[in-house]
Amino acid sequence: MPHGLRKGLATYGDAGFSLFLRRAFIKAMGYTDEALDRPIIGITDTFSDFNPCHGNVPDLIAAVKRGVMLAGGMPMAFPTISIHESFSHPTSMFLRNLMALDTEEMIRAQPMDAVVLIGGCDKTLPAQLMGAASADIPAIVVPTGPMLVGHYKGEVLGACTDCRRLWAKFRAGDIDEAEIDALTDRLAPTKGTCMVMGTASTVSTMVEALGMCLPGGGSVPATHADRIRVAEASGAAAVRLARDGVKPRQIMTEAAFRNAFTVLQAIGGSTNAVIHFTAIAGRLGIKIDLEAFDRLGLDVPVLVDLKPSGDYYMEHFHWAGGVPRLLRELAPLLDTGCLTVGGRTIADVIAGAEMVPGQTVIRTVADPIATGGGLAVLRGNLAPGGALLKRSAATADLMQFEGRAVVFDGLEDMTARLDDPDLDVNADDVLVLRNAGPKGAPGMPEAGYIPIPKKLARQGVKDMVRISDARMSGTAFGTIVLHITPEAATGGPLGLVRNGDRIRLDAAGRRIDLLVDEAEMAARKAAWVAPPVHAGSHRGYLKLYLNEVTQADQGCDFAFCIGE
Ligand code: FES
Repeated sequence: MPHGLRKGLATYGDAGFSLFLRRAFIKAMGYTDEALDRPIIGITDTFSDFNPCHGNVPDLIAAVKRGVMLAGGMPMAFPTISIHESFSHPTSMFLRNLMALDTEEMIRAQPMDAVVLIGGCDKTLPAQLMGAASADIPAIVVPTGPMLVGHYKGEVLGACTDCRRLWAKFRAGDIDEAEIDALTDRLAPTKGTCMVMGTASTVSTMVEALGMCLPGGGSVPATHADRIRVAEASGAAAVRLARDGVKPRQIMTEAAFRNAFTVLQAIGGSTNAVIHFTAIAGRLGIKIDLEAFDRLGLDVPVLVDLKPSGDYYMEHFHWAGGVPRLLRELAPLLDTGCLTVGGRTIADVIAGAEMVPGQTVIRTVADPIATGGGLAVLRGNLAPGGALLKRSAATADLMQFEGRAVVFDGLEDMTARLDDPDLDVNADDVLVLRNAGPKGAPGMPEAGYIPIPKKLARQGVKDMVRISDARMSGTAFGTIVLHITPEAATGGPLGLVRNGDRIRLDAAGRRIDLLVDEAEMAARKAAWVAPPVHAGSHRGYLKLYLNEVTQADQGCDFAFCIGE
């Protein structure tokens, strides 16, 4: 098996010439033969002026390079796409699969014996792991890490749970324009990923539980010296992985995914993680069973007290012992024999957990925040392919609920009518958003957190049952049913709901149902008309995306990328 510079030669019909040319060109960078004969460790450079969550990437690359060289390897950084949530039109999820393709193909195209994946903002680590799983070379993740908390008038603030909370206050007229402007200086005070248990933190925590980053990698703050040390150690670990030939599929086994999903339930993490880890597993031919995930939740208590469901932030989770401490608490529910990229097992990681006296961020199994898991999988005549409810962020009184449907036919319709004073809506209605799924929007935007209509917000209404085929930011909260599958735009039953229909949410029974009889449903189905095609869908990435994207139950990966 060729390695180092000899891997993946450009095709000229003469391998000797290809290698000769490669050496000649790369020496323009001043490398010596001694350097070029070492194991080559690729490092993804996802720095971008548009991506503050990756603002520390240059420092991390420098540290990874140091670690690689200390261990006898040759580091080579290379750029890939970088995706930030707020700088991704129409939505970052639309671009995740593009980043996965980019990462996979650049790993394949360039000669490297292992790759260090540096990412962090929501879609980046899933995309990188999808790509690395398919590229099938040794890989290790270095998350960029969470930012530190912000402060405003004595209050601790976090991106972006408090962004949403404060924006809701602004919509309700409780704070004015000057104050909401001032808050933009305080909500994201350092480089790094959102510091609540949103999608980025959920993913980095699960990546550590999966065994794909070193202990502490999931939670050390982005701006802390320990983050640099994790990066240096990861560079050295990458050289070991290259020498031993340990591939991602040896770490990301079915048991390792079960461990990661157990952690997802215990942290009351982001619903988005279900889609992302389904997609990563799918690349390896591992099918995530939603019902098994739901059953897992019945045994797994919610132990981590972080926003948006709880009170604390990622830096507090880290100083309470982070993932190793959490794994220790969950040990009876885990497969502790799973291997990690550090060369040790989960049992070894647990043995090294720091026990912090008196901390209350990571609870014990005997004193959980909640039982029954953070996320519930729903079925029913509205979601034959499944839907998700984040129980840990929902209002207890709304989890068994029946109400009248108030339907929005898409994002434009919702934006146009939601705050209309004449909108026929009451606090005990169910807000329905459709045509916001993988193909419908397109890109399945984080629009499932439908704002409370202004006139109700001003009356003090804080939560309502809201259902959609969209996603929701991991930083959001409320009684919100998401990822309804199949989506409305492909003919799913959500597209058949009419204003005034009755909808029942039965969280305990794991059901979401439209209370309309079957004959009427069949008549509506026969009369259903697909929404108009998206502008620009005849060409380019949008065409590829619309042709190939799968539904949420398959991780919204492209059909042709899913593994055997
Ligand atoms: Fe990047 Fe939240 S916007 S992690």
